[in-house]
Amino acid sequence: MQVPVSTRLNGRVLVVTIDNPPVNALGTEVRHGLEDALRQAQDASVAAVVLLGAGRHFIAGADIREFGKPPQTPFLPDVCNHIEACAKPVVAALHGSVLGGGLEVAMAAHYRIARTDARLGLPEVNLGLMPGAGGTQRAPRLIGAGAALDLILSGKPVNGARALALGLVDRLAQTEDLEAEALAYANDLLAAGGRPRRTRDLAIADADAARRVVTDARATQAKKAVGLFSPHRIVDAVEAAIEKPFEEGLAVERRLFLQCMASPQRKGLIHAFFAEREVAKVPELAGIQPRPLERVGVVGGGTMGAGIAVACLRGGFEVTMVERDEANCARGRQNVEKLLAAWLARGRISSTEHDRLLGAFITTTEYARLGNADLVIEAVFEDLKVKQAVFAGFDRVCKPGAVLASNTSYLDVNVLAAGTPRPADVIGLHFFSPAHVMKLLEIVVADRTAQDVVATAFALARKLGKTAVRAGVCDGFIGNRILACYRQVAYRLIEAGATPYAVDAAVRHFGYPIGPFQMFDLAGGDIGWAMRKRQAATRDPRDHYVRIPDVLCERGWFGQKTGQGWYRYAPGSRAGEEDPEVLALIEEERRRAGVTPRAIDADEILQRYLAAMINAGADVVNDGIALRPLDVDVVLMAGYGFPRHRGGPMAYADEIGLPKVLADVRRFAVEDARFWKPSPLLARLVGEGRNFASLNAAH
Ligand code: 3HC
Ligand code: NAI
Repeated sequence: MQVPVSTRLNGRVLVVTIDNPPVNALGTEVRHGLEDALRQAQDASVAAVVLLGAGRHFIAGADIREFGKPPQTPFLPDVCNHIEACAKPVVAALHGSVLGGGLEVAMAAHYRIARTDARLGLPEVNLGLMPGAGGTQRAPRLIGAGAALDLILSGKPVNGARALALGLVDRLAQTEDLEAEALAYANDLLAAGGRPRRTRDLAIADADAARRVVTDARATQAKKAVGLFSPHRIVDAVEAAIEKPFEEGLAVERRLFLQCMASPQRKGLIHAFFAEREVAKVPELAGIQPRPLERVGVVGGGTMGAGIAVACLRGGFEVTMVERDEANCARGRQNVEKLLAAWLARGRISSTEHDRLLGAFITTTEYARLGNADLVIEAVFEDLKVKQAVFAGFDRVCKPGAVLASNTSYLDVNVLAAGTPRPADVIGLHFFSPAHVMKLLEIVVADRTAQDVVATAFALARKLGKTAVRAGVCDGFIGNRILACYRQVAYRLIEAGATPYAVDAAVRHFGYPIGPFQMFDLAGGDIGWAMRKRQAATRDPRDHYVRIPDVLCERGWFGQKTGQGWYRYAPGSRAGEEDPEVLALIEEERRRAGVTPRAIDADEILQRYLAAMINAGADVVNDGIALRPLDVDVVLMAGYGFPRHRGGPMAYADEIGLPKVLADVRRFAVEDARFWKPSPLLARLVGEGRNFASLNAAH
């Protein structure tokens, strides 16, 4: 059995190596190992201790997989206290990730040396937690309350150089050989008669200024972290570091940490963390090698094509963009240049990087230039005939084995595949707008797509830093298909009596950054309107149809781009104001439809909105469009604004109980059984007393 903590004496220095792949998380065995090592350090032969991480990281934190299970001794705060209490100087040698409990271990050590590329941070807030092993008490003592609050509330890591400037580390390693440098540091300390230097003994610099920092942070979080639990507890814990002796501060931290641990937000955020990693594990792809991938072709240089091109350039690919004529070619190039210039202006890329990316970018009207591309993505108009013509072009010019991808939002990828002699190479790559920013990528696998093409799409996503989710072919794939259902509910709610502003407010209160009507205004009402007009001929007259959005569009109110939509926008402003004209128009439509408006409160708005989302999510899993409920969760969190601290709609459904969701759907079905059809999967799980998580676990 592998020993996660090993020790070895180098002269008078005890080298303690943590080796717990993949990230040296501080699981029970590691904590035991550290305690054993500290006991060994008491031996007279040991004069100093060096703590090292094997592999790519020092320590990436507590073992997240242990959270929610009964805690096992020794507890991490005690281990940290024992490190700090060690009678011999302890040097922490830091590289890779030094996160959460990892940084807390380092801060409990007496001296710290780091590589410049180490990443030191306290990211617990991203998991609905706060540092729970002394971090809220030691960080303010080491680097001051302001810097500590920045580190803990942002959850963002700093590099070695910044850590040195903050006083979080004492030395930077000058060579690749961290172990040798840490040993040299320990020996230097011994030679100079260096004693243990305990962070707990440091006074907080300028306590009055620190108090002001806490007051400001409390006020900022009250605005910024509305509805979140742990950020407010973090401020309280740092306040305790200022106001109380160390031991009492630790006790406050422990109490608040346990409250965070017990909160549903912790559960939701940790589900999100693992789900985002789990989606990349597609069982059918085990052992399948992706195809080579270096050059990418993009057809269409509009909104999406330009964003995709920039994402691919940033991912390290050479990109050739094909447009239909010279004028559009120039426009496509301009679109890409604008996006890169904006990144440059915001400091996201250096000017060297900017020039390098542009140097890897070609625009052309000649399809033949796609001949050496390993993967081509079309992002032309959403029109089957236009896309089929593009695929015919691919057939003519693309090399054998090239992956042929479509960024279609709704069209049938099977139909596109059937139109080419190489259907096994065809796949959907559904990027989200803006494609160079949005994390989500739906990988749409058609009936005949080869598995190594799917593996290549996942490899592309990794290079682009996207969160990729496998989806099957259907109208709207995972995300847009579910959106179509809850969008209907939003329209029905306003017809029945709610205002768009009340719906948006309820949805924001749940944790979304914006409500659905704000989102429609942002995206532009014309796109959905065009689709509804196309669908009109085939719409079943028995289906209830809400005309209100069409009436808005008939007036040319498409949202932000026309200055008026569900909200009214002052020239140049993106902040919408409630619009009495919209309310009058809704009233008129209600009268026309013979609806007597009723009062609908925020609870009912959410119940209906979420029940539709969850029920549609269950259908998507039931139909095999999403592999697992967690795939639905990731799509809605990464692409549609579902609040991460709720873990996605399916995890949220488990939290409130599937019997409740099913009962809601059945209750609503009494009014309109054509729209509200309980998902067979939801009904089956309720019948079996199971939840969605049990399906995630079954994979
Ligand atoms: N505990 C358990 N498993 C962890 C882990 C952790 N802290 N951090 C990462 N892992 C696992 C991942 O789940 C993944 O497992 P898998 O291969 O089975 O899917 C594997 O390690 C590799 O992780 P990534 O795929 O994320 O690898 P990357 O190289 O992309 O990223 C990382 C590495 C930056 C360390 C990233 O994993 C990360 O950010 N981890 C979380 C760090 C964190 O939040 N630490 C704080 C924990 S809470 C805490 O310490 C509480 C304390 O204050 C008491
Ligand atoms: P757009 O209208 O901004 O751009 C389309 C571009 O394709 C135009 O520049 C046009 O000149 C070019 N084009 C048309 N026919 C061509 C041909 N035969 N050869 C080369 N270029 C050609 O459209 P947008 O918004 O970029 O959408 C493109 C695709 O992406 C559509 O399929 C759309 O459904 C999909 N999509 C759009 C999203 C969005 O939010 N806009 C989100 C996700 C997918």
